[in-house]
Amino acid sequence: MLIDLHFGDWSAYLVRWIHLITGISWIGSSFYFMWLDAALEKPVANKPDVEGELWMVHSGGFYEVERKKITAANMPKTLHWFKYEALFTWTSGICLLGIVYYGNASAYMIDPSVANLTPAQAVGGSLAALAISWFLYDGLWQTVGKSKPGLATGVSLAIAAAFAFLFCHFLSGRAAFIHMGAMFGTWMVANVWVRILPAQQKMIDATREDRPVDYAHSGHAKRRSVHNTYMTFPVLFMMLSNHYAMTYSGQKNYVMLILLILFGASVRHVMVAKEGKGTWAAIPAAISLLALVALSSQFTRPVGDATASVGPPVPFSDVHAIIQSRCVSCHSKDPVIKTFGPMPGGISFETNERIHSLAARIKFRAVITKTMPMANMTKITEEERTTLGRWIDQGAKVDE
Ligand code: HEC
Repeated sequence: MLIDLHFGDWSAYLVRWIHLITGISWIGSSFYFMWLDAALEKPVANKPDVEGELWMVHSGGFYEVERKKITAANMPKTLHWFKYEALFTWTSGICLLGIVYYGNASAYMIDPSVANLTPAQAVGGSLAALAISWFLYDGLWQTVGKSKPGLATGVSLAIAAAFAFLFCHFLSGRAAFIHMGAMFGTWMVANVWVRILPAQQKMIDATREDRPVDYAHSGHAKRRSVHNTYMTFPVLFMMLSNHYAMTYSGQKNYVMLILLILFGASVRHVMVAKEGKGTWAAIPAAISLLALVALSSQFTRPVGDATASVGPPVPFSDVHAIIQSRCVSCHSKDPVIKTFGPMPGGISFETNERIHSLAARIKFRAVITKTMPMANMTKITEEERTTLGRWIDQGAKVDE
C-alpha cells in the first residue's frame, strides 16, 4: 500500500501521551495537597481564620501558604479549582480503552480459553460493568456509608473483589487488569465530579450568601477523596500490568489482581499514616503483603508447564518452522497481520541470531505464560510450545 500510516497506533500514541500528562498532573496535585495538609503548622501569630500555615521554597521562589476558613468577608474573587486534571485523565483513558481494546476486541479483550465472547459482547459488557460498578459503589456510600462507614468499606472491598473475579472470568488477562484500573479510575473521577466538587460548591454558595455552612457536606466529600487516595496506587499497578505478562497470565489471575490492589492501598496507608497512628504496624503489613503477592505467583502460576523440557534434542529447523508459521506473521518489519504494526513489542524474528538472543523472552511469553502469539491468532499448538521450551532448555542453539 502506498500510504500505510498505522493511524490507530499513532492516535493511541498521542492519546496515551495526553493520558500520562493529565494523570501525572492529577496525581501530582492530589499528593501535593495530601502532603500540604500533613505538613501545615499552627499559625505563629493570632489569626482566628487561619487553620494552618507553612513556608515553602521552590525554583528560587518563596511561598507562604495558609489554610483558611472561608467567610463571606474573605471570599476571594478568583478561586483556583483542581478539577480538569481528573476529567481529562478519565476522558483520555476511555479514548484509549476505545482505540486499543474496543477497536481490537478480538485481539486484546477476548481469550477463547477464558470465555468465548463476541466483540460486541465484550465491549457491551465492559461499558455496562464500568457504569454498574459506579452505581453500586456510589449508592452504597450515599446510604449505608453515611452512618456505617466501616461496614461500607468492607462491602466496597467485596464489590471490587467481585468485579476483579468477573473481569478475569470473562476477559483476557491483560484486558481484565486494565478494566479493573478503568473501573477504579471511573469511581475516582466520578467521586470528584459528582460528589466532591458539588459539595465544595454548596459550601461556597452558603458562605457567599451568609447562610450557615453544612459541614456534613465537607465530611462526605472528604471521605470520597480519601477513597481516591487509596485507589491511586492500585490503579497505577493495573495500568503498568500490561507490560508484565507474569501479573495477568496466571490461572487464578484474579487472586494476583486482588493482592496487587491490597498492596497498592497499603503503601498509601504507610505513606499517609501519621506518627503513632499505625505507621509502624503498616510497614510490616505492607512488606508481608508484597511477599504474599510475589509468592502468589506460585499459587496463580502461569498456565505453562515449565518442566516439560526433558526429551530428545530438538533440531533448530523444527523451531525455525514454528516461529515462521506462528510468530513472524506479526513479528517482522513488514508483517502479514497488520493489526499491531511492524515489529510489535519492538521484536522481529527475521534472523537466527535474533531468535537465539530472544530465547529467554520466547520461553517466557510463548511457553510459560502463553501470552504469545497474541490471542493465539496463529493457532500455535501445545506440542509446539513444548518443543520451543525444550529447545531453549537445551541451550537454544541455532544454525550458523
Ligand atoms: C497476532 C500477532 C502476534 C503474534 C502472531 C505473535 N506476537 Fe508476540 N507480540 C505481539 C504484540 C502486539 C506484542 C506487544 C505487546 C505485548 O508485549 O504483549 C508482542 C510482544 C512480544 C514480545 C516482546 C515483549 C516481551 O515480553 O519481551 C515477545 C518476546 C513476543 N511477542 C514473542 C512472540 C512469540 C515467540 C511468538 C510466536 C510463538 C509471537 N510473539 C507471536 C503480537 C504477536
